[in-house]
This record gives sequence, structure tokens and C-alpha cells, in this order.
Amino acid sequence: MDKFVIEGGERLAGTVRVGGSKNAVLPLLAATILQKGIYTIGNVPRLRDVNTMIRLVTLLGVRAEWVDKNRLRIDTTGVDNHVAPYEVVKEMRASVLVLGSLIGGMRKATVSYPGGCAIGERPINLHLQGLAALGCEVAIREGYVDVTANALKGGRVVFDAPTVGGTENILMAAVTAKGETVIENAAREPEVIDLVRMLKRMGAKIDGEGSDTITIKGVRSLTPCDYDVIPDRIEAGTFLAACGITRGNIVIEGCVPHHLKAVTDKLREAGMDIIEDGNSLRAAMTKKRPFAIDIKTTPYPGFPTDMQAQTMALMCISKGVSAITETIFENRMMHAAELRRMGADVRVIGNTAIVTGKDMLSGAKVMATDLRASASLIIAGLAAYGTTEVSRIYHIDRGYEAIEEKLKGLGAKISRRKDEGMGS
Ligand code: UD1
Repeated sequence: MDKFVIEGGERLAGTVRVGGSKNAVLPLLAATILQKGIYTIGNVPRLRDVNTMIRLVTLLGVRAEWVDKNRLRIDTTGVDNHVAPYEVVKEMRASVLVLGSLIGGMRKATVSYPGGCAIGERPINLHLQGLAALGCEVAIREGYVDVTANALKGGRVVFDAPTVGGTENILMAAVTAKGETVIENAAREPEVIDLVRMLKRMGAKIDGEGSDTITIKGVRSLTPCDYDVIPDRIEAGTFLAACGITRGNIVIEGCVPHHLKAVTDKLREAGMDIIEDGNSLRAAMTKKRPFAIDIKTTPYPGFPTDMQAQTMALMCISKGVSAITETIFENRMMHAAELRRMGADVRVIGNTAIVTGKDMLSGAKVMATDLRASASLIIAGLAAYGTTEVSRIYHIDRGYEAIEEKLKGLGAKISRRKDEGMGS
């Protein structure tokens, strides 16, 4: 197992380029199962989650090959299996995204029922209710969700909550269903829009993406396509928070600034200067300490839950008291206890963290508990006095491409080492 060793205190400066979006590429890879043929997907980040999705679709009969550093050639002509096994789904919950594409492409899917994860229970009841509304028969057997769709037809799907994965699964199931499907209370995230754009390029008829009502008119067949993944807004947001905490001055290239509006608005309120410049963001922190800001996570276009932990790290050195409320996942505050080990004053009451800013954090040995929590500990370490060691960084490799190289490029003192104290 690897760990990161960080010597805090360097102000980040320079230019960094963000990669393709993790949360966009996973459903795009699943969508290639919808229609047999050859696809090329560009701007694919080299991440552990991407490798896991490749492993999963390979088990279904896909041949995937890297043709360039960030470009995949996907051949789905040999897809002949509809079973997503426990061994893969337990490693990555997003494996459940093959449910919709297997139904759309093969009219049957058997997918290991995903369990809870570190940040919450994360049920898939809304995915299954939506599939049932499209005429699917859904059964749970021996830990697997078994779905058959002998008469896949359009239907009205009303989500209780705007679920990202649920919206993506229903989109993929509905594109070749007979008739019209309407998804109400649909997720509006840019990653959902990216999937719709790829499906449209394949010949799907979809309207309303980006709003809370999406209409899909089923088509008889689709055509494979080439597609480039959108930039990762959460990776960009993570660099913004790192810039803020180190009083840095950086340029983030290759992002879509309007995808980050809720984040940049809040960070400006905290005292950062952030300028949008085409596909770049120029960010600087000239104040000694950020102002305390309050944050409440909500579905897009609100403040993303995937930026909550990183912003909490920034607030640990703010001038004042900040309230950070998590409304999407019920257990997404595990980083608070680790931040306390670095001297932060964080009290968690229910789903709100009260952070009283301190002058300074001090380096410590801390443990990553999930993907974004790992990012928050790295951010805290960049500003802390002394050395911080973040263990269990396999979490960060799930969702950040070469984060230590990118941070080093900005002047951070961070290195990856073998963690001798941990089992392998
Ligand atoms: C996706 C993102 C994740 C992000 C999350 C919220 C991917 C691969 N992951 O996860 O990074 O943090 O969106 O923006 O894209 N819910 C139910 N029943 C369901 C489905 C969801 O109750 O059937 C609840 C969840 O428990 C959660 C909320 O709805 O409280 C939102 O979850 P959802 O949008 O589905 O998240 P994911 O798609 O799993």
C-alpha cells in the first residue's frame, strides 16, 4: 500500500491541466454495450475506477485497448454476457451503470446488488423502480438484481430524489424502448448531459437534458460513435481549494468554468480571486486566511457533495466559524476526525460540521477513508506546518490521475512512498 508524504507550507504557483471526468466516463463506457460495433473514447482519465469499468465490460465480451495515453478503442461486437459479478461490483458501485445499458442492448441484466459504502447506504431502489416503469421484470436473487425486459416500453419515471446514476440507467434503458419515456425530477449534472450527448451522437432522440424533465423517444437501433469525455469539474475544484489554502496563484487549464459556478461563487466569497478565461480558471489567494463561509451540498447546479470535504479543509484555517451541511449522503464527514488530528477545530452535529478556523494546521499521520476525503487531507497537508502522511491513498487513485505529479508541477512538496506500516 502507498502513502503520500507532504511537507506543508509551499504556495502553489503555475499551471495545471485537468483530465477527463471520472463520473462522466464511467456511464459512457457502459453505454458502448447498447450497440455492437467499434467506438473511440477520448480524454479518458487513467484511473483505478476506469480500469475497473474496463475489467467489467471485458467480462461482458467487450475488447478495450488503449490507443493513446488517454484514448480507448472499444470493440463491442463480441458482447455476449449479461452478468456483472460480485467480485467487480463490490470494488466499484458505479458498476451498476451496466444495468441500463445491458437492458437497452440485450434486454436482460444480472448485476450483483451493490452494498453500502463508506459515505452512506446508497440504495438503488430508484433505479429499479424506474426500470419497472419501463416494463422490466425485476427480481432479487442470491445477492443479484435480475432484470428482464421482454417488452421494453416507454414509461413515466418520477424520481423521489434526483439520482445521477438512476437517471443515467433509465436513459440507457429507454433509448431503444418502444415509445416515449419521461423522466421527472431527473438529475441535471453535467455528467448526465455528457451521456445524453453521446447517446444522441449514436442516434438517440432525447430532449430536456440539463433540466429536471428529460424526454426520450425510443429508436429501433443506434450507431457506434467516437466521443471525447468532458473535463473533470471536481478535479478542477480540488485544485482551487488547494490554491486557496496555500495562498497560491495558479491557472487551471482545460476545464469548463460554468460547471464549477457553485464552487467558484463560494470560493470568491471566501476571499479568493477567480477569473474565468475561456477554458481556464485563474485563481489566486492574496488574503492571509480565507473568510469563513457556510456551505450546503445540494444536487447540481448547487454546491457538489464531491467538493464538501476539500472545502472543509480550506475552512479549517478560515477567519471565523463556518457551517458545512451535507444533504446528499448520510455519512460523509469521516474526514472531520482526521482533520482534527491535524489540529483543526471541527465539531460534527448531525449532518452539519461546525468549523472554527485556526491560524495554522500541524502535520500529522492521517488516514484516507474515501475518495474525496483523501483529497481534503492532502489539501490540509499542503498548508500544515511540518510533515503530513496520508495513508490508504488507493482511494485517491480511484478518482485523481497522477495527483502528486500535478501538485509537484505547482511546487508542492509531495511524494508517494511505500507504507511499510500497513499490510499490502
Ligand atoms: C454520483 C457520483 C458521486 C456523487 C453523487 C451525487 C458517479 C459515478 N458518482 O453517485 O460522485 O457524489 O452522484 O452527486 O457519478 N438514492 C436513493 N435511491 C437510489 C439512488 C440514489 O435513495 O436508487 C439517493 C442516494 O442515497 C443519495 C442521493 O440519492 O442520497 C443521490 O445519489 P445519486 O445521485 O444516485 O449518486 P450516485 O449516482 O451513486
